[in-house]
Amino acid sequence: MIQSAAVLPALDESDLAARVASLSLEQKVRLLTGADFWSLHPEPAAGLRRLVVSDGPAGVRGERWDERDPSANVPSPTALAATWDEELIEELGGLLASEARRKGVDVVLAPTVNLHRTPYAGRHFECFSEDPLLTARIGVSYVCGVQDGGVGATVKHFIANDSETERMTLDAHIDERTLRELYLAPFEAIIREAGVWSVMASYNAVNGEPMTESSLLRDVLQRELDFDGLVMSDWFATSSTEASARAALDLVMPGPDGPWGEALLQAVRAGKVDPATIDDKVLRVLRLAARVGALEGTTSSRPPAFDDPHIAAALRRIAAASFVLARNERALLPLDLRGLERVAVIGPNAAAARTLGGGSATVLPPYTVSPLEGLRSALQPAVQVTHSLGLQPSRRIPVAPVSCLHVPGTSEPGVELRFLDPDGTLLASEHRRGCAFKWLGSLDIAGAVSRIEVHAVLRASRPGTYAIGASGLGRYRLALDGEEVLDERLELPPGADIVEGLMTPPQTAHRVELDAGQEIGIVLTHDVRSAASGDGLLAVSFELNVALPYAGDDHEIGRAEAVAAEADIVVLVVGTTEEVESEGFDRTSLSLPGRQDELVRRVTAVNRSTIVVVNAGAPVLMPWADDVAAVLLAWFPGQEFGNALADVLLGVAEPGGRLPTTWPASEAGLPSTRPIDGVLRYDEGLSVGYRGGGRDTLFPFGHGLGYSSWEYEALGAPPRAAPGAAVRVTVELRNTGGRRSREVVQLYASRSDSGIARPVRWLVGFAAVIAEPGERATATLIVPPRAFQHWSVEHGRWALEPGTFALAAGSSSAALPMSTRITMA
Ligand code: BGC
Repeated sequence: MIQSAAVLPALDESDLAARVASLSLEQKVRLLTGADFWSLHPEPAAGLRRLVVSDGPAGVRGERWDERDPSANVPSPTALAATWDEELIEELGGLLASEARRKGVDVVLAPTVNLHRTPYAGRHFECFSEDPLLTARIGVSYVCGVQDGGVGATVKHFIANDSETERMTLDAHIDERTLRELYLAPFEAIIREAGVWSVMASYNAVNGEPMTESSLLRDVLQRELDFDGLVMSDWFATSSTEASARAALDLVMPGPDGPWGEALLQAVRAGKVDPATIDDKVLRVLRLAARVGALEGTTSSRPPAFDDPHIAAALRRIAAASFVLARNERALLPLDLRGLERVAVIGPNAAAARTLGGGSATVLPPYTVSPLEGLRSALQPAVQVTHSLGLQPSRRIPVAPVSCLHVPGTSEPGVELRFLDPDGTLLASEHRRGCAFKWLGSLDIAGAVSRIEVHAVLRASRPGTYAIGASGLGRYRLALDGEEVLDERLELPPGADIVEGLMTPPQTAHRVELDAGQEIGIVLTHDVRSAASGDGLLAVSFELNVALPYAGDDHEIGRAEAVAAEADIVVLVVGTTEEVESEGFDRTSLSLPGRQDELVRRVTAVNRSTIVVVNAGAPVLMPWADDVAAVLLAWFPGQEFGNALADVLLGVAEPGGRLPTTWPASEAGLPSTRPIDGVLRYDEGLSVGYRGGGRDTLFPFGHGLGYSSWEYEALGAPPRAAPGAAVRVTVELRNTGGRRSREVVQLYASRSDSGIARPVRWLVGFAAVIAEPGERATATLIVPPRAFQHWSVEHGRWALEPGTFALAAGSSSAALPMSTRITMA
């Protein structure tokens, strides 16, 4: 495993303690609740400046949610894990640290290391893997990369926040062995090996204790793992004063209001919370501040410099390294350009770049490259690239495309926002080139804004029915050419999650018929006060929506067939969107949304040389998989999507990804995300994903094809090993194909004669090799002692069952040509 090379700024603990001691109780308690949505209070008396935190796993958003302040959009975490490449992910961590510093951010709210317990999970794309070892190793690399750059990482969400349904209140019932061996393992590794500076406590409860009050914080994080960093709550997760303060929760987020503050002061004064507990929390705040250089007299290390071309090149490389070539019949890929005249790029995700999932992990990229754009720039003019939408799976009205809007009285693309006070006086206006508007914490406008108006002119590019409307919460009025056509109050259904309200809120729209070239004036008015959240924190979030005329799925699928039939090769890009995979809700079906399965069948029926690119953050069902020539799983790959895709399809880069999670063939037997009477039982225990064996699997854990072939020739392992020692295993293999290639060698253990319940097999190590055609390579895998241990519930510690373990090596959990045995005694 990577040892953190982090050059931690030397912490003078006695200096920190002196600073704590210099503060009054009031000053101390004030530091323990956020100052606003994204920052901690400054405290001049302690030399503490304002400290800024920001989401998240797919980039660093910064304090503003605004297309004018963009962020590098990196591949989604599942894609990162699919690289099985620790060095690459450490490099990415450096890029994130550089982004954080550019945006004035001290602590990144990532990585998310909850496990892929079930593919239904809404935030599956935001987590690395179903496997704790792979999650740990990718997580350690990520955190080392970020923190080596002097920026804090926050490993989240501690713990068992593996799905979204009722996430604020559910009580996950998990047996102790499963908790230790699976769900805690990545946190443990990241604390011990990467020395992470901060942990986020999740919304849910585990075995009856809400995580912001859980004994696991003190007993496991602090006492057992010697965690010296800060535990912050997930946003609005803390609901108690004394219980959470007595637990090892250090910081309530966000602020300035919340259950601590004055109530905590009273509790300390009344002797219900020990002042020493408060001091320890403040010490942890200051320690974090010292680490990120937010404390007078401290400096943090600097991130590597990443300029725009460097970012683009890195993200293109990482995305290509994450794509999993799941199937490649007739060696259709890489594409042979000889004789190729026409390539059709088809599908709902072909021209729209679906680069990220939804929720708090959202960032606003400076640009995106869609598959269509990427292939056009790689192939044209030598090869003709045609396109067809295929169908429109979403029934939601999309955010208005800026290309069809301009600011009234100008030819500037985009819209004008006007901020008005209660008397209707204009306080400020701004020109925006995006139509999704979000302010969390502050509007950054001087004066009392009570109304925001969006002014724009829509120019119809083609004749037909246009739907014009709004999404959000609160009151919306829409006027078209000066005439009010809508006045509606939009509310969330009872029990809905706050983030769902921000990301996929209710919509309203008015339909108009327009001729090609016709223009129509739009004024959308939103009353701000009604949208502010009840606890004094401002959260304004709404969209101007415009749906362009749509001829219907039947018509579009028919067109796609015609375009496909005329092409030499079809690249069919299907998938989900940030609307389907997001936060605050889980998926209820793993099928591709809309009629996409039918689209795949009909397109592949007219053109057998079809490559199906699946652009989804998490597994989807593919009832057609055995009938299509090639399947490439592309995840939510970040802003360089199209360029990376072109590189892989044309063979400029090898598809580097291996599945970090089992890809199921059906929904049968998958763990549910639905709590019963508030309780979510982890009844599958240790049998998560491939560990359970026997499930209906389409593509197994670890699977992924490169552009070469390999023969495994020898597996070397000592016949015996002493408990507690790491075991060195070597695998010799040969590149038997025709090009230079990288292979991820995986090693699994199993135990058939065990006296305790065991998974069918479990990953104990992996290593990548690169070789030229015909060349041999040796992969060296160091298996940590923990890989052979289990958690003894009886003794409350890790234990080794003496005896013989089987070891098997190969290219996936289901392709293990080499095996041997090792006796631990
Ligand atoms: C999410 C966290 C996130 C926080 C701040 C919460 O709803 O669960 O992952 O960091 O919001 O955006």
